[in-house]
Amino acid sequence: MTEIIARIAGTGAYLPARVLTNDDLARIVDTSDEWIRARTGIRERRIAAEDETTASMGAEAARAALAAAGLSPADIDLVVVATATPDNTFPATAALIQNRLGVRAGAAYDVHAVCSGFLYALTAADNAIARGQARNALVIGAETFSRILDWTDRSTCVLFGDGAGAVALTAAVREEAAPRGVLGSYLRADGRYADLLYVDGGPSTTKTVGHLRMQGNQVFRHAVTNIAEAIEKVCADAGVAIADIDWFVPHQANQRILEAVARRLGLDEGRVVSTVARHGNTSAASVPLALHEAVADGRIKAGDLVLMEAMGGGLTWGAALVRW
Ligand code: UT7
Repeated sequence: MTEIIARIAGTGAYLPARVLTNDDLARIVDTSDEWIRARTGIRERRIAAEDETTASMGAEAARAALAAAGLSPADIDLVVVATATPDNTFPATAALIQNRLGVRAGAAYDVHAVCSGFLYALTAADNAIARGQARNALVIGAETFSRILDWTDRSTCVLFGDGAGAVALTAAVREEAAPRGVLGSYLRADGRYADLLYVDGGPSTTKTVGHLRMQGNQVFRHAVTNIAEAIEKVCADAGVAIADIDWFVPHQANQRILEAVARRLGLDEGRVVSTVARHGNTSAASVPLALHEAVADGRIKAGDLVLMEAMGGGLTWGAALVRW
């Protein structure tokens, strides 16, 4: 029987033009370029303009992914958006993006797993394609975290940025040897730690949007353990040795997390794609933004084994393995 695999046919990205540097932040809160760089690796981040939203940025990233894939909106029959900063409480930002693109077929919905959202959304779209429920899907990670930051809290406002990344997935016949496409994924959540990273508002509680709150050093400890677990699990399930992975595309929360995970698993740091210095933490957008950068600059090539991973609020975490 012919087996179907979801192949990544194209990637796209969108970053707002406005750059906010660490020195800019030192004029707003009691911080310094030296502290931010040493503790996080971040040098600057992008901030959305007044008229830019999660839907507008997500739609731009999706258009780029469609063009790279050689697909048109008429080909798309599923739009999944990972975001924790939707344009509206409802409808889903996916519906807004679907309309902006002129996609008229299939389903459109949001997935909310904060920084792990892109892995959750990719897994949902992969499952839909494997079940024959969709043929061509857009998976988008888009965030406007600048709108939920407490700009008086130096422990959080220096960490995050805005942006969007997208991939176009297409159903392909799975090759018997070295199949190209999504080989597997692994998702986890542990709600016992919800209060380590959360937004202190919402429609059913405060009736306001609220602001991001984080116990950063505790999240850091969970991140290294959980990410290492997810990488080991997804590789073991796929029968792939970690040493055979060509590119690691991690969630970009902190350069020190990337390095700690690399040390723990013995990864070659030259194989870890890092954009955190220029993007900061863009939550659900960070993995597809980093993925797009490594594809666009020629690092990731056809046949390469690519491992994506993330950990974020929930706590949620996960990993996905793709042969390009
Ligand atoms: O994307 C979702 C997942 N999120 C993450 O993975 C984030 C994980 N956590 C982190 O990346 C790090 O914990 C942070 C970057 C958030 C913080 O780094 P840290 O080394 O864990 O610092 P800390 O929170 O333990 O704070 C150390 C000190 C404190 O001062 P005292 O109490 O030692 O006097 C803070 O008040 O640094 C101080 N501090 C700052 N100083 C200058 C906190 N933020 C700042 C700041 N500038 N922006």
